Order: sequence, then structure tokens, then C-alpha cells
Amino acid sequence: MTDISTTDQWTAVEELVASIGEVSLRELFAEDPERGRRLSVTAGDLHIDLSKNLVTDEILTALTELADIARLPAQRAAMFRGDHINTTEDRAVLHTALRLPAGADLVVDGRDVVSDVHAVLDRMAAFAGRVRSGDWRGHTGQRIDTVINIGIGGSDLGPVMVDKALRHLQTDGIRAHYVSNVDPADLSATLAVVDPATTLVVVASKTFTTQETMANAHAARRHFVEVLGSEDAIASHFVAVSTAADEVAAFGIDAGHMFEFWDWVGGRYSVSSAIGLSVMLTAGAPAFIELLEGFHTMDLHFATEAPEHNAPVLMALLGIWYTCFLGAQSKAVIPYVQDLARFPAYLQQLTMESLGKSVRLDGSDVSYPTGEVYWGEAGTNGQHAFFQLLHQGTQLVPVDFIGVAIPGEDLDAYPSGRSGPVSMHDLLMANMFAQARVLAFGKTEEEALADGVDPTLAPHKVMPGNRPSTTILAPSLSPGVVGQLIALYEHVVFSQAAILGINAFDQWGVELGKEQAGTLLTALTAESHPDPAFDSSTDSLVEIYREARGR
Ligand code: F6P
Repeated sequence: MTDISTTDQWTAVEELVASIGEVSLRELFAEDPERGRRLSVTAGDLHIDLSKNLVTDEILTALTELADIARLPAQRAAMFRGDHINTTEDRAVLHTALRLPAGADLVVDGRDVVSDVHAVLDRMAAFAGRVRSGDWRGHTGQRIDTVINIGIGGSDLGPVMVDKALRHLQTDGIRAHYVSNVDPADLSATLAVVDPATTLVVVASKTFTTQETMANAHAARRHFVEVLGSEDAIASHFVAVSTAADEVAAFGIDAGHMFEFWDWVGGRYSVSSAIGLSVMLTAGAPAFIELLEGFHTMDLHFATEAPEHNAPVLMALLGIWYTCFLGAQSKAVIPYVQDLARFPAYLQQLTMESLGKSVRLDGSDVSYPTGEVYWGEAGTNGQHAFFQLLHQGTQLVPVDFIGVAIPGEDLDAYPSGRSGPVSMHDLLMANMFAQARVLAFGKTEEEALADGVDPTLAPHKVMPGNRPSTTILAPSLSPGVVGQLIALYEHVVFSQAAILGINAFDQWGVELGKEQAGTLLTALTAESHPDPAFDSSTDSLVEIYREARGR
């Protein structure tokens, strides 16, 4: 395969690096009064303003040519078609099929995947309907008002993020808790506040072998049997979401209480599969279907729009521009939407487990960065924590701001009578727009002096500006918008990986740690003191730990 960094198109982008140092965002905006609207795209319900990025038309054109030479459209078509593009695991990558409408046509490896998907969706909706209506009863005959989702990684981060985002739709009195960590504090804290008689446990695991999930599931199961007084209680209090029917049966959950998905759904791409069951239980099937429609809207946008209007493609090209050409190492995602507070954590798995690769698909070493460290926090909290570094620090950190026009709820910000009520949501959004402006345009020394700043302090008050950001504005945080946002970033990751020639769908890097944890567990728990077996650091840590545990 061609190494993208050896192409003329890559060299052409490289040659434009110097040019962006010669202009500022102030100048680019001054030269082109239409830049704000011209460099914005619409994707579904999302208005995505790319104009405050460090690019000229010439740079954007050159970046787009990188996508062409990497055959991005052909690679995209191969994914949507169900080719086995996850070559190291010989699997199709078909999370987009999870959102196809009933009746759509997609046969992969001899199976009508759309029928399979909708059969499971129908079962999920029927089950969620029974639980929500009170038809499904717990072992003691009480109705279910609490869900515990036990899962980790993609079997946790997606559902918990969407669950928080759709808080406003949880009107039927069912609340979910999410337990992921093998730290017993996670499960214990949850079990302490739920009543097993009215609680349903959803064990969510693609493989149903993940150590953390299985440990939590077995511990929860023991607790339920003890409190409810019978093994029979498991049938009405435990359901599973998995691809592994045998493992689910071995755990003791019967096939009728298992919701299936398939090996062509990657863990971090699985929230639109049955992994979203907890969300369907708390927010209801219609909201979940609306969420899927949102995903599908963005899938269609990605599949059909020309590169210059294609939001995921443009955002991926900007990611490549900043990391491979301008030296950025991280990217901040700041939702000015409290209900999206878990979105940055969700994106960390989506992007970093996908793009954390150092070899290309053919096994050859890459000679360029493959992805950014994603991080973030809800605004305005971040402003009082790390924004100082974004504004005046020495590192290049592109930012994605996310906001909505119509809030789920609003409150007056000030005591009534003080120049009329100010909405807290308006205050929030004013902050978001202000941050993007200050990052882009800063404040010069002359402006600081003109404001009366003491000349000795002026250097400290200069805001360099020219710091890039993208602003994503949605009408409201509807389920459809949540689906569009998730799919947007899924396709950014796909495009970035496809252009850079890496596999975004395996995660071999996490395996070695899992294997070694097994060996370490034996060393920590062995009856007799183990012989030095690791390295001098690990051996002494094991010894100190064993002593502290009285072993
Ligand atoms: O961290 C590795 C990983 O395999 C993730 O990709 C996945 O989302 C997570 O573990 C959980 O896996 P499972 O759903 O099989 O329990």
C-alpha cells in the first residue's frame, strides 16, 4: 500500500505549512467578511463552523487532495458495503447497518443484516415496553424502577453518555446506574443505593469474557440471590447484551433474556446496537429509534456529500493538518451542554482506541502521528480550570465547542428586578461564543495598553489569539442530535484512519496488559511468597503490596 507521506499530495500540504504562519485569523477574517458563513457546513441538524481554524482555501484544497489520493470515497464505500475492512480480525465494520431503516437492503457474508438488526430492535422495544409499563415484574412481584448496566469500555461509555444526554426523556420513573470498574467500590456504592427487588441488571459485554464485567456481574448476582433469597430470582432480574450466546448461557441467563449483536460491531462503535438497551429502558423505545435516525442522518451525509461540504471529512482533514503538519498532540472537546458532560470520555475511547496505532494496515511503520489525545470537560467549568493554557500556553490545542440553542430547561440568572431576567442558558452560550472568539482573535499589546493596562503588565495581558476552534451548534439536545453528534465523530475517526492507512477497528494494544494482569494476580495472591519473576520495580511493588495485605 502507498505510504501517504510519500505522495506529492502530502508534500504539497507540507509546503503550505509556512504560509499559515504568515497570516493570522484576524487577517483572514478581515480579508474575507464572508469567512464565517463560507467555512461553515450543515450536517443534519448540526451547524458546524470551521472558519476559526488555521486554514486558507489553498490549504483546504490541498488537504482534500490527500483524501482523494488515499481513495477515501472507495474505502468509505467498502465499509458501508460490509467488506472485511478490519483486516487484522477479518471482520466487516458495519455499525452503520445498525441504523438502516427497516426494509433497507444489505446482505453481508450471506446474511440479510437489516432483518437481523430489526429483529433485535423489535425484541428490545417489546422488552423495554414490558419493563416500563410494569408488566415485567421482579422476583417478589414488584415493578422495576432501577437498571444497573454492568459493562466496560464500549459496553459502558456509550450507554452512560447517552443516558445522561437524554435525561429529560426519563419521565417514566426508571433510572439507570452504570458500573464498570473492577474496583469493588464501584459496584458496592451502587448496590448500597438500590433495592434488588425493583432492579434489573443488564450485563453488557460483546465477548462476555471481559474480566471486569464478569467479576462485577458475578458479585452482583451473588448479592441479588442473597437479598432475594433464591437462585430463581436471576431469571427476572438479569438480562444480557452480547455476541456470545454460549458464554451468556454459561453465566445462567437464558437465550430469551439475551439481546444479540454481531462481531461486525466494534465495542466502541456499539452504542447504536443492543448495547443501548439501558438507554431504551430509561428513555423509551421511540427516543432510541429517534437516536438511531440521527445516526442514520449523519451516515447519509458522510456517504453522499462532496468533500468540501462533508463535515466528518473536513474535520478529519483538520485533525491531520494539526497533528501531522502543525505538531498538535491533543484536541479538546468542550460541550457547553452539561448533559453532554460524558461526551469527552466517550470520545476518548472512540478516537484513541481507534487511532492509537503505529503501523499501517500492511504492517509497515508509520512515519507520522496517527491521532490526538482527546480530552475535555463541560463548559463553563473548563474555563475555570484549564482554559488558561489554551489561551496563553505554548501548545497548539485545537478545540471543538458544542452548544445547543434551545436548552432542556432554563433558569433566570439574576435576582428579578436587576435589568430584567437573564437566562442562564444565554449566559452559558455567551461564554462559549466568547471563548471561541478570544482563542481566535486574542488581544494585542496595543489593545491592552489602550485599555489602560500598566505597560509593565502588558506582556502578561496579551492574548496571542490565532488558536483554532470549531463550533458545533445544534437546535437542541434531542435524541436525533445526540445520534448525529456520535456518528459525526465515528466518521471523523474513520476518515482520519483511512487517509493515514491504519486500522481503526482493532485494539491489540490493550491485550498485553490484560494477559499480564493474570500473571500478576497469581503473584499477588499466591500462598507462598513468589520468587522474583518480573523486573526489580514490579517485584518490589508486589512485595510491598503483599506485606500490606498480610501475605
Ligand atoms: O478495552 C478493550 C475492549 O475490548 C474494548 O474495545 C471494549 O469496548 C471493551 O474492552 C469491553 O469489551 P466487552 O464488551 O467484550 O466486554
